[in-house]
Amino acid sequence: MILDVDTGNDDAVALTMAALHPDIELVGCTTVVGNLTLDQATDNTLRVLHAIGKSEVEVHAGLARRFAPSPYPSAPNPAEGMFHQDTLPVGVAGLTPHSWRGVEWLIETLRRATDPITLIQVAPLTNLAAALTVAPDILDSVDEVILMGGAWKKSGNRTPAAEFNIHADPVAADVVFRAGIERLTVAPLDATHEVLVSRDDLRRYQELQTSAAQLVSAVTEYYIHSYQVTEPYGIGALLSAPLHDALCVAYAIDPAVLELTEVIVDVETVSPQNYGRTTIDYLHEGSGTVGNARFAVHADSERFHRILDDCLKQ
Ligand code: BDR
Ligand code: CA
Repeated sequence: MILDVDTGNDDAVALTMAALHPDIELVGCTTVVGNLTLDQATDNTLRVLHAIGKSEVEVHAGLARRFAPSPYPSAPNPAEGMFHQDTLPVGVAGLTPHSWRGVEWLIETLRRATDPITLIQVAPLTNLAAALTVAPDILDSVDEVILMGGAWKKSGNRTPAAEFNIHADPVAADVVFRAGIERLTVAPLDATHEVLVSRDDLRRYQELQTSAAQLVSAVTEYYIHSYQVTEPYGIGALLSAPLHDALCVAYAIDPAVLELTEVIVDVETVSPQNYGRTTIDYLHEGSGTVGNARFAVHADSERFHRILDDCLKQ
């Protein structure tokens, strides 16, 4: 599996799970601008791996700018997020990534692969869109793409209409949804807001005493605080935090964690009000049209917590 991250507090949990779960062979990570600048996201990714004793996992820094510039100069810069810590309080400073050629590395790794690889995308889809544009043949080596992004019945969390990862680079998302990926699985806000982590969970992690549990407790504490002091569109201040990105890794470990339905996803790339919105067509059945994604309509919270706890015991 290859994990694409903009680490990012919830990305840190996803990364910890992917690096530690015995059923996952993490081939490497690519980083991208999103929650933070590319440099910050890359540094945080290296810190997390160092903190959990997995420094051998390769980290390749990808793109520092959007695939397509936003047509709306007033749209917030994705790197101006206030939800995530610029510097996660874990690991050590001064680590360097394996390369700054994340997109090229992704293409080369997929072209060389002898077994199919699953791509987990928990950040703006900039790197994957660039790779698919340059080298559409890489899909031959992709088993499944699992991504965190979009919303169906829920409002957005970046604007009233759009979820952060899609809003940060809607053209990139559009490229990915139209790429003809055979198994494209999406965990939208509708699903990720069903798996919350609370301060009670943090107390349980602290008792585990592993470096992974300490890390997840530290980065999640801050994330819960972010959700407490901020009121994202249509969601309301929460006393707990949805660990969005971690749900994608949990699904890779145990697909039963998500209830999926096949849909046609369309990404809005033009309208100022709806920039980055995902429109879901679920009425296509019988029309002869096939869906382009499997959207998660529900997530099994108990199952998610069992998987996360298992990872934190490692
Ligand atoms: C997504 O946006 C980012 O802030 C999180 O890391 C997650 O990938 C949730 O909308
Ligand atoms: Ca993320």
